[in-house]
Amino acid sequence: MVKASKHEKTLTQAIRDRRATPSFDGAPIPADDLRRILEAGLSAPSGYNVQPWRFIVVQSGEQKRRLRGAAYNQAKVEEASAVIVACGDADGWRKDLDEIVRMGREGGMPEGYAAQMPNRLTNYLSRFSADEMHGWLNKMVMIAFTHMMLMAEAMGYDTAPMEGFEQEQIHEVLRLPMSYWVVALLAVGHGTGPDKFNGGRFEMGHTVFGEEFGKPLK
Ligand SMILES: Cc1cc2nc3c(=O)[nH]c(=O)nc-3n(C[C@H](O)[C@H](O)[C@H](O)COP(=O)(O)O)c2cc1C
Repeated sequence: MVKASKHEKTLTQAIRDRRATPSFDGAPIPADDLRRILEAGLSAPSGYNVQPWRFIVVQSGEQKRRLRGAAYNQAKVEEASAVIVACGDADGWRKDLDEIVRMGREGGMPEGYAAQMPNRLTNYLSRFSADEMHGWLNKMVMIAFTHMMLMAEAMGYDTAPMEGFEQEQIHEVLRLPMSYWVVALLAVGHGTGPDKFNGGRFEMGHTVFGEEFGKPLK
């Protein structure tokens, strides 16, 4: 789905170089580049391949200004070339069930699995409380979000992920359906000014264990 271009960073380079960018120059992003970044997100894996993510791409000055107001006035929302508002649709799986099975069959999903899929999915997801559904959506949407963030970096763009926003205000600005849950905002563009301080990362022994909790990984 996503084609590689000649001067792209490797995944290793993109992971190494990526920083949360404090300030952007605001230059517009070519539509083809934006599309490639979005396609990287849409290629992400998800539970039962439900793909419950929905993305609202905000590029106009007026809408970015309104979005900034819903994101604690963070200037980078308005400065970025584009802000991708990453949402999950709590009802997406119900609406897309037939298409998920159809695509699966087309790609070789075994018939027995395809036949059971609607019941399995319904049994799993229809029992979720609202909080459980939000947790599930966060999990799925953030994978697509990370794909996009790293693809943008590989293509030479800078990004800023954001959780600082008011759910209801974003709903209002973007006229989102009730079933949408806003997960995070991704500002994309070219950074300007000094980098943010480097907060550093924990040593591996602090966050990674081997075989069971508390044992060092050998
Ligand atoms: C999901 C997520 C949400 C974040 N939300 C904000 C935010 O609202 N505002 C902000 O200035 N930085 C935000 N950050 C940036 C983090 O502060 C930053 O990633 C962290 O300090 C590590 O720095 P680095 O990304 O440059 O390595 C967020 C990062 C992530 C991953």
